[in-house]
Amino acid sequence: MTTDPQALKQAVAQAAVDYIEPWLTSDAVIGVGTGSTADLFIDALCLKRESFRAAVASSERTAERLRQGGVTVLTLNDVASMPVYVDGADEINPALEMIKGGGGALTREKIVASVAERFLCIVDASKQVEWLGRFPLPIEVLPMAVASVMRRAVALGGQPSIRTGFMTDNGNPIVDVAGLKILDAPGLEVELNNLPGVVTNGIFALRRADVALVAGPRGVETRLSH
Ligand code: A5P
Repeated sequence: MTTDPQALKQAVAQAAVDYIEPWLTSDAVIGVGTGSTADLFIDALCLKRESFRAAVASSERTAERLRQGGVTVLTLNDVASMPVYVDGADEINPALEMIKGGGGALTREKIVASVAERFLCIVDASKQVEWLGRFPLPIEVLPMAVASVMRRAVALGGQPSIRTGFMTDNGNPIVDVAGLKILDAPGLEVELNNLPGVVTNGIFALRRADVALVAGPRGVETRLSH
């Protein structure tokens, strides 16, 4: 199989649609993530639009792509349950804990994922890491708390920077924190959640993935959380 990054994303996107096929029923609402891998998943999912009821999107970008593909998009408040949420990640460790938010959609991603019964993560093998933190950790922050959160990030050993020229779908800035070696992902997720002014941090450990599909040179492998 190829090592071309785009081809790997394409392969894992198609594998995800095949994986969720049992849950594509007439009353099913599917949770859909954000990013370049999720975009390819959306394109493949739209070809199956007659098989399921609707989707909930984790960003305006994803909602638009789903609608253009003919899929009904519901707001999360209209949905009580979803069999599965499918999304990419910026990093994923062996416990299937992730860093997300490179595209800035972390808050809505975390909310939609929290409602879904399963989280299916779709990545190419370059996203696999032993421990999280080489990818700068995104934190969505209320504007007035940017400086205080950045000081706390420095105290934690990180090097924070504001993502320039960017605002989330919720109208907030993102602080990216480089230089963290995250050995206790759930612990740091909770600690950052407790900082006043933090909307969401990009550690997905309290709600980690249940399954990861990982595309590499030998094909798409399935990893289960343990
Ligand atoms: C969006 O905010 C992110 O969480 C993405 O899911 C993540 O950055 C992966 O994106 P790519 O598939 O584009 O690498």
